[in-house]
Amino acid sequence: MTAITLIVGSVYGGALQTARTIRKELAAEGHPVKVLEAPRIADLAADDNPLLVCTSTTGEGEVPPGLLPFYLDLREQMPMQQGRPFGVIVLGDSSYGDTFCGAGDLMEEALLEVAARKVGDTLKIDALETTEPEAVAVPWVREWLARLP
Ligand SMILES: Cc1cc2nc3c(=O)[nH]c(=O)nc-3n(C[C@H](O)[C@H](O)[C@H](O)COP(=O)(O)O)c2cc1C
Repeated sequence: MTAITLIVGSVYGGALQTARTIRKELAAEGHPVKVLEAPRIADLAADDNPLLVCTSTTGEGEVPPGLLPFYLDLREQMPMQQGRPFGVIVLGDSSYGDTFCGAGDLMEEALLEVAARKVGDTLKIDALETTEPEAVAVPWVREWLARLP
């Protein structure tokens, strides 16, 4: 059993629905998942669970408004997360070109800066390729879980 904290950023609900499906699937397999739909920096201190980010991209490669306070506080306050495992699932749309899945890159950078440890490659889900992000995300999360220390 591995408890996970899932940090969500979503504008239109795709990433949120993906996160909720992940929680449901993993709970059925005995892994409790805490979904933070409006994450705050203080949530990081509540436990030492591995962190999974599931966010979409908005603006020009930006983090959704609901995740922005967490992101900005992470950058400004830099609460060290030495060695804490994390993974990134990011939704985007490749028609946005250079900013494709930019929110995932921002979250990765910010977490690496506080010394968290990335596990697995970022899963980038392209809205042009799939309308069911959860169908791609759930198998990815199972593999990610297996790679956790
Ligand atoms: C106003 C707006 C701006 C967007 N900007 C980007 C972007 O810069 N890069 C990207 O990869 N996707 C961008 N997207 C695409 C969304 O990230 C994508 O549709 C995603 O699946 C939405 O997930 P959500 O329902 O959780 O918000 C943008 C979408 C909208 C509506």
